Amino acid sequence: MAEPGRIAFCDFEKREEMTPDQVAEVFTKVAGTYDETWKARHYKDHVYVAEAVADFYPGDRASVQVLDVGAGTGMLAEELWGKGFRLIDGLDPSHGMKVEASKKGVYTNYYTEFMDGKRLDCFATDAYDCLVVAAAFNTGFIPCAALPEMTRLVKPDGLICFGIPDSRFTEVKDYVDRLAPLMELMEEQGVWELVDTKYCHDFYDNANPGNIFRYVVKASDIDAAKFIDRLGPVG
Ligand SMILES: C[S@@+](CC[C@H](N)C(=O)[O-])C[C@H]1O[C@@H](n2cnc3c(N)ncnc32)[C@H](O)[C@@H]1O
Repeated sequence: MAEPGRIAFCDFEKREEMTPDQVAEVFTKVAGTYDETWKARHYKDHVYVAEAVADFYPGDRASVQVLDVGAGTGMLAEELWGKGFRLIDGLDPSHGMKVEASKKGVYTNYYTEFMDGKRLDCFATDAYDCLVVAAAFNTGFIPCAALPEMTRLVKPDGLICFGIPDSRFTEVKDYVDRLAPLMELMEEQGVWELVDTKYCHDFYDNANPGNIFRYVVKASDIDAAKFIDRLGPVG
């Protein structure tokens, strides 16, 4: 019989009752076969994010400081590397995913941390030009409350780019009636400005449509609590 941890890798709902540490452990267990699994499922979120980021930086990309959140085995960083980005740090709580990513040599630093809303003192405010996320907005992964901390790490006029399948907004309990309103509130309050969204019809399994979001940060050093306190209850 398959271990519960391995089932939770593919059956997202199984992660609802897990602690963040247990979710990270699920990824450590599957890290060695992660890339082949998702290549076989025609996973493309990372490709679309990399294209959108490269489009934002048409010139010299080698000096752009990038933080890849929910970095995993580095599939997104590999795409960025192929487009000329060289200064890429990763952040992910799973030690096993870090081990796999390290084999690729695409990250300068890899922080085994959660992006979960708490202030990450290992990072200075405005440390990065660009922050990217692929496939890490889902059940048990990055919570809504992490968005203000993500903006703190990016310089004003820097880019935050992430992909989110449409179904996440209605199926992930933490995001229902919370994630989209928070994204809008942060824009109303001058924290970031939406550059554009790009609709993609196939994030994985030749299905699962969603959007690639590109935001330019306008005010990075914000009072995160002001935004988190306005999130409604989960569920
Ligand atoms: C589906 S994988 C995506 C990995 C990679 N971005 C890719 O495109 O292949 C999701 C990753 O998010 C990580 N993760 C889970 N919770 C997280 C959190 N709160 N902050 C950052 N990463 C998290 C997991 O450990 C896992 O490696």
